[in-house]
Amino acid sequence: MESIYDRYGLELWEKFVAGAGSFNTEQLKLLSDAFKDSTKVLDLGIGLGNLAKILVSQGKIVYGVDIRRDSLDYAQRKVGSEDLGKLVLVERDVRDLNFNNEFDGASIVSNVADFGDLNPVFSGVYRALQNNGYFAMTGVESSQLERMNELRRNETELAIQEGRLFFTPDEVKKLQKEGKNLEKMKEGLSKVIDSSERTTDALIRNGFRVLRKQGFYHDTCYFVLAQK
Ligand SMILES: C[S@@+](CC[C@H](N)C(=O)[O-])C[C@H]1O[C@@H](n2cnc3c(N)ncnc32)[C@H](O)[C@@H]1O
Repeated sequence: MESIYDRYGLELWEKFVAGAGSFNTEQLKLLSDAFKDSTKVLDLGIGLGNLAKILVSQGKIVYGVDIRRDSLDYAQRKVGSEDLGKLVLVERDVRDLNFNNEFDGASIVSNVADFGDLNPVFSGVYRALQNNGYFAMTGVESSQLERMNELRRNETELAIQEGRLFFTPDEVKKLQKEGKNLEKMKEGLSKVIDSSERTTDALIRNGFRVLRKQGFYHDTCYFVLAQK
């Protein structure tokens, strides 16, 4: 499936995510708090590396898995070289994990829907975790996607008006072009239904105990904390 990164490029997408500041801040806080007692975390779909950067700065070892080389390189640049050795990059499909009892934490940042069938992913995470290891993730309630996009658009517009966010003319052109393709993108999105219910069902099916499930970003998104 064509990724949002192919359409916008990682830098421009990052600007978007930052523009919708409270969504990203809320999810990063929920996730990083969940790992306060963890020392070695498996971050699935490391993407822009935002969670990995926080966890590494807290002294944890992070294994970042991603299918895209450019994501891994981007995350490495974000974390920086000061913490060399604390970030281990793994170029691999998350549906094909090969770790055994190695981690006391595992995370997925807002991309549960990217992974399609959750069973191969969650069974791999179950094997990768030690007993009592935590698995924390965020996702989007697909039924609330329109409302979430509107909230993010409003936040982005306000940030532009207040001068906290700036797009170059080239970026504006790209955004306008992609805006026209939005209908096509919606068709793609509607094929993958993400929801807290689907995620918790898959967790329980794969042997996890669900400790906490809560909505955030005006209940358009969800956070789930599970334990092996
Ligand atoms: C929304 S981003 C994740 C955000 C990121 N964790 C952060 O903190 O900025 C999605 C990432 O998942 C990766 N991805 C999607 N499907 C994958 C798969 N099957 N295996 C590994 N990585 C995958 C994409 O390449 C992309 O980098």
